[in-house]
Formats: sequence, C-alpha cells, structure tokens
Amino acid sequence: MFLGNTPTVMDGDWSIWIVTMTRVALEPATVLHPHPVLLVGTYGVDGKANLMNAAWGGICCSKPPCVAISLREATLTYHNILHSRAFSVGIPSREHVEIADYVGIVSGRDRDKFADTGLTSVRSEKVQAPIAAELPFTLECRLLQHHCLGLHTLFVGEILGIVADADVLGDKGLPDIEKTQAILYGGFGSNHYFAVGEKLGRAFSIGKGLKPNT
Ligand SMILES: Cc1cc2nc3c(=O)[nH]c(=O)nc-3n(C[C@H](O)[C@H](O)[C@H](O)COP(=O)(O)O)c2cc1C
Repeated sequence: MFLGNTPTVMDGDWSIWIVTMTRVALEPATVLHPHPVLLVGTYGVDGKANLMNAAWGGICCSKPPCVAISLREATLTYHNILHSRAFSVGIPSREHVEIADYVGIVSGRDRDKFADTGLTSVRSEKVQAPIAAELPFTLECRLLQHHCLGLHTLFVGEILGIVADADVLGDKGLPDIEKTQAILYGGFGSNHYFAVGEKLGRAFSIGKGLKPNT
C-alpha cells in the first residue's frame, strides 16, 4: 500500500536539505536481515552425527548464556534435539559457504552430511552433540526450553562451553568476527549469503554524540 511521501527537513550548519522518502506497507513476512548462518550439530537416536543450516536464531539471554534456534518438525535436527536434549551451534567462515548451504538443502535422513562435506565430527565434552572441527568456533548447548510457535518450534539452549580455533580469538580471548570471517544470510528479501562488511564504529560508544547535553 502506498503511504505517500514523508518530507523531512534536516537543519544543518551550512544549508537545509529536503529529504523525501516513499513509504510502502508490505504484507507480514519473515523478513529481518541480516540473519546469521548457524550450523546446528546433533546426534540421532542411532548415534549418527548430523549438521543443518539454521538462519533463524540468535543469542537470547546473558544469564544463563543462551542461544535460540527455530526449527520445523520436518527436520531431523528437531527430533534429534528432543532425543539428546542438546545441540551445538557452529559458525562457518567464508570458505564454508558451500558446505553451509549443502547442509541446509539435504536432510540427514537421506545423507551422512559429515561424510559428504568432509567435515570432521568431534564429540563435545560438555553436551551430547557433535562439533564440526573445521569451523572457527562452536557453542555447546544443553536444551533448556522449547516452545512450539506454529510451523516452527523455538529451542533455547544454554551455552555450557565454546570450542574455538585459537587463531580466531581477539584481544579479550573471545572469537573476533573479522578473524572468524563469519558469513550472513540475506533472508528471503535477498536470498544470498554475504560476507561481513566494513567496521562502522565502536558499539556502546559511537551513539554517545547524540545524547543531549544536560
Ligand atoms: C540459508 C538456510 C537457512 C535455513 N534456516 C532454517 C531455519 O532457521 N529453520 C529450519 O527449520 N530450517 C532452516 N533451513 C532448512 C534446513 O536447513 C533444511 O530443511 C535441512 O535439510 C534440515 O536438515 P536435517 O533434516 O538434517 O535436520 C535453512 C536452510 C537454508 C539453506
């Protein structure tokens, strides 16, 4: 729906700009970009390690440290998590983009995705879930809660440990996004994977300039 033009006057030191934006209202859709690219590792009832791509997820609590992922019941991973009460969340690098996509278009019901991709499955020491050793870092999670929302079920995992490649750690001993070379998924509006772009400013800091003087 066309909502018309919204004129905005920006008053600057040197001149006045008139900015015109055309706004449209869209139907509800699962658009929120960018998405992370999360590779969820699980063991099946038969003990077989599996990996799937899940873009719908993110950190959801700091104490206890938790990550949430949303899965359809149709996935093998959904059933594996309910069985083992655990999962891992691996972060792929640019070099893993093809692998990341493959594990998102093939089911572990039909294929051994670790064998097909050449990734090495290593058992987590913290939870009953496999870790793909080649990924820069992986969160080891125990299932804390799950809620059926509709087609997707939200799985909340408490992060009990992180396994990381020493080469991707930054100053504070945690994974550094520029070293992990993490990738993003553009979502349904831009159905491609993207590299992380340029650094724009320090978080919790760059906005301070807009605080009114008191
Ligand atoms: C970029 C991308 C993102 C995806 N995100 C999700 C997701 O968040 N939740 C989901 O249920 N499926 C998602 N999928 C689809 C699953 O990865 C796919 O159904 C996969 O085959 C399931 O594997 P499994 O049956 O071995 O668990 C995504 C696929 C791709 C390619």
